[in-house]
Formats: sequence, C-alpha cells, structure tokens
Amino acid sequence: MRAKNFYAGPSTLPEEVLKQIKDDISEYKGLGLSLIETSHRSKEYDEVHNNALSRLRTLLQVPENYSIILLQGGATLQFGMIPMNLLKDGTTAEYVNSGAWAEKAIEDAQKIGNTRVLWDGKEGSYTSLPKAAEVKAGEDSAYVHITSNETIGGLQWKDFPVLENSPLIADMSSDILSRPLDISKFGMIYAGAQKNLGPSGVTIAIIRNDLLERSSDALPVYLNYNTHASKDSLYNTPPVFSIWALSLVLEWVEKQGGAKAMEARAEKKSQMLYSVMEELPEFFHCPVDPNYRSTMNVVFRLPNEDLEKQFIAEAAEKHMLGLKGHRSVGGLRASIYNNLTEEACAELADFMRAFAKKNG
Ligand SMILES: Cc1ncc(COP(=O)(O)O)c(C=O)c1O
Repeated sequence: MRAKNFYAGPSTLPEEVLKQIKDDISEYKGLGLSLIETSHRSKEYDEVHNNALSRLRTLLQVPENYSIILLQGGATLQFGMIPMNLLKDGTTAEYVNSGAWAEKAIEDAQKIGNTRVLWDGKEGSYTSLPKAAEVKAGEDSAYVHITSNETIGGLQWKDFPVLENSPLIADMSSDILSRPLDISKFGMIYAGAQKNLGPSGVTIAIIRNDLLERSSDALPVYLNYNTHASKDSLYNTPPVFSIWALSLVLEWVEKQGGAKAMEARAEKKSQMLYSVMEELPEFFHCPVDPNYRSTMNVVFRLPNEDLEKQFIAEAAEKHMLGLKGHRSVGGLRASIYNNLTEEACAELADFMRAFAKKNG
C-alpha cells in the first residue's frame, strides 16, 4: 500500500511517473541500456533534456528573452551564485527576510558583498509578510530577493512587488508551478526540483538575458550562469536521472491542465485543511497571518506538545507520513505539493476532525 506523503521535500511524485520510470529504468526504449547508463550526448538523452526545457518554457510561459538553466547544488548553491554573478561593487543586494530560507540566502550574500534587509519578519516570529507595494528597491540596488513560499514557516506571497529600478529575484523552491506566474515581472526565479517538479538533484534557474551580462569571466566556470546558458545546460554532465524524471512530471502537469489546474488543485487542497482549523479553533491553531497562508505547506499547532506527538504517531499508523513540523519551529506541517492527491488531503482533514473529537 502506498503511504500518503506529506514530507516537505523530497516529496511525493505522481504514481504514473513512478510507473513509467520503473518500466524504463533498466532498458530505455529499445536502447539496450538504461537512460542513466548512456552518454549525456546521446540522441536519446538529448530528446529528454530538450523536452524538459521546452516543457518548462511552455508551462511557466517563459518569455523569449529569458534563459532556462538546469543546475546541480540545490537551491542552496543559488544563495551564493546569485550574489557572485549579480552583485557588483558599489551596489547592494536587497532581501526581504521572511523566514528560515530567506535568512540562509541573506547569510550567503553577506559573504559576497553589500547587503540590505528591506523588511524583517524575525521579531514577529516570521508569521507575516510585507505588503507587496511596500517593497521598494534602493537607488544602489543590485536586485531584490524574496522567497515566494517559506517552506518552514508556511508563508506564501500572494502578490509580488513591482520594481522599476531593480530586478526582482524569487526563490520558488516550494511553490514553483503551483500557480500561473508572470515571469516578465522577475529578473530571475529559481527552485530545487524536489517539491513540485521531481526528485532532488536538479535545480531550475530562469534568468533574464540582460542580467547574464553582469557575470564576470573571473568566476569559476560552473559558478557562472553564462556557462550554462550558452550551452543549453550541457556544459558538463547534467543530472540525467533527475532531468528525465523532471520531464515526466512536467508531462503529467501538462495532462492535468498546466499551472491553472495546479492552482485550483492547491486552493482546494489547502482549503480542506485550513477550514478544519476554522471549524475547530480551540483545538487547531495556524500561527500564520490569514493573508499569507501557504497553499503548499500548511503549518498548525495543537493545544500541547503531547497531543502533537500523539497526532503524528496516530497519523503514521494510518499511513500519513511526514507531518512533523520542522525541528526549528516544532508543531505540525502538512506539505501538500502539486503531486499530492486530493484524496490524501481529504483523508488528513477527516483524521484531524476525528482526532479533535476524541481528544478535545
Ligand atoms: C524555500 C527553500 N529554499 C531553499 C531550499 C534549499 O533547497 P536545496 O535543498 O535544494 O538546496 C529549500 C529546501 O527545502 C526551500 O524550501
């Protein structure tokens, strides 16, 4: 029996995709080899690679003047690569500090050059976000960085800042392709694949071409965005398994109806859980400002920690896994990414009601 996977990442994949991988893993389409054993310069891999790139371009509606780059090193490597490539002397990298992931991005940028925090949610224990219209870039701004969904805090931007004088950069690791997006409002977006797009091992970066001109030739070759943009992400050996799985997940998203369908699915699933909290406010408490509650990571607390432990244990007995909140904040977190079924979410909502009735 397949468990219901509420882990924050790596996370659940569509069963159809897992089946296809299983069917093709030892011999890929009459090749006599697995795709993960063959050359990354082979025509079979080339097709998979190009499919992944073109599906990303179509599903995310990426304009012509943006490059799509497939990288390794996770979103974490981007915390350093962004300032290395885009922060020049005499300019300042600006950040919105919305939570644990934004903090990590800021810490790395501080090692590279001048940084400024435009808004800081730390004192409010990262339970809210600034209004998008209040985020303004300084005159010396190199870029403004936000985290579109804070995976640990369960906070999600609903509208994005519109900046006239500086590119907006967003870490979309935990909500990429969960809703339609106007990429032209961003200088760059990036995301590790392992939540909405596939297994871990590949990171997607989408960057406006004029920003590529900022990268210095003095950078080590892998760390320079131009290396990858100019070689269609085939400068060195790419993570072929992860890109193959990415391509299959994207094909699955296409069949479901693309970003709009993913948005409807995310709204419906997250509402199933938030509405239980509204029905039973004495028992379940979501600490996040209702304006910014995430459709991807639903965080909540129970009346005490013993009940939280009991909830996690009893849910696991019912094959609902991964509900423990991040160790830095405690509580509970249901990660309900694109690939999680509505049935799994409905089952969790029913379990929450039954648990509250028994223990409330
Ligand atoms: C919002 C966000 N940014 C960055 C990361 C780090 O990603 P990676 O593990 O791919 O380096 C994560 C991981 O969970 C995340 O949720």
